[in-house]
Amino acid sequence: MTNISITPVTKSRITEVDFDNLGFGKIFSDHMFVADYYDGAWHDYRIVPLEKMSIHPANMALHYGQSIFEGLKASKDKDGTPMLFRPEKNIERLNRSAVRMCMPEFPLEDLLEAMKTLVLMEKEWIPTAVGSSLYLRPFMFATDEYLGVAASTTYRLMILACPSGVYYSKPIKLLAEDHYVRAVKGGVGEAKTAGNYAASLYPAKLAREKGFDQILWLDGIYNKYVQEVGTMNIFFVLKDKVMTPAEDGAILKGVTRNSLMKILKSRGIEVVEKLISIDEVIDEYNKGNLIEIFGAGTAAVVTNVSSMTYKDITISFDESNWELSNNLKNTINQLRNGEIEDTFDFTMRIEETVAI
Ligand code: COI
Repeated sequence: MTNISITPVTKSRITEVDFDNLGFGKIFSDHMFVADYYDGAWHDYRIVPLEKMSIHPANMALHYGQSIFEGLKASKDKDGTPMLFRPEKNIERLNRSAVRMCMPEFPLEDLLEAMKTLVLMEKEWIPTAVGSSLYLRPFMFATDEYLGVAASTTYRLMILACPSGVYYSKPIKLLAEDHYVRAVKGGVGEAKTAGNYAASLYPAKLAREKGFDQILWLDGIYNKYVQEVGTMNIFFVLKDKVMTPAEDGAILKGVTRNSLMKILKSRGIEVVEKLISIDEVIDEYNKGNLIEIFGAGTAAVVTNVSSMTYKDITISFDESNWELSNNLKNTINQLRNGEIEDTFDFTMRIEETVAI
């Protein structure tokens, strides 16, 4: 059993929280999990009151970007028992990101125990309104104080818990980006590393100035094949099947993407993972075959796309098109709230046996 030392807050801040206006990632629960890596191993597992940290100006994560993260959700089953949604998938991905960024992996069982213990401590912070959840943000960063370009020898892993509402509160307008790229094969596109998000900010700002909400990234070599949105993976619903870009080493292997594919397949709907060119998307739309586009991610769940623009071509979708996406969104939300039976084994109930 993992040994986690616990220092509870003397007074909870929960009464200050307006659970009707949570937004996303702005409100933090009372406690956080912290562990430190040194001498070649993870040490000092602890849950402590959320507080600011002091950082040396030569902290290597600030200079050379060894920083990775995950996002997953805790919710409540219909009997009030806290649940996690496919946490092992996020831990496995965190460890793949760690390997790519030359950082240490974290033992899966230990991280799972840390998540469960933190969620049990914060169970009153789990919101229950439809679409809301306690969003967990595990992250790891370098802590050596050194300006030479090298892998740090020390790291910190933390988990924050944020009661959060929906990430996108309305359908989004996408711009397929034909100049900037998010990732290239062989790069770090598959890793959930902070720099991928930093690199997306300037093109996203330009897109917003033109009236778009998000960028649909195209591949970094031909500038032609659809990749992902940056905050979520992308799906195209055709009359006879659903298509999504194949994992190519540059797109993020989304947990929600994988869950939706399992749900679709269980319903006998064909899901094709392949190279999808932006011309093919427009062509299918012009032929009347493309019914809807939606994004899928942990924070975004299933997000409707109202239009997609590529150069001077815009294809539009209205509410009457969103049957499958809305159905999938409800299914994910209902699985997370225990409203429907979880035949997929996605949810993990956290029984009180976890030692706190
Ligand atoms: C998530 O869906 O958890 C993400 O990491 C996307 C975003 C909020 C950065």
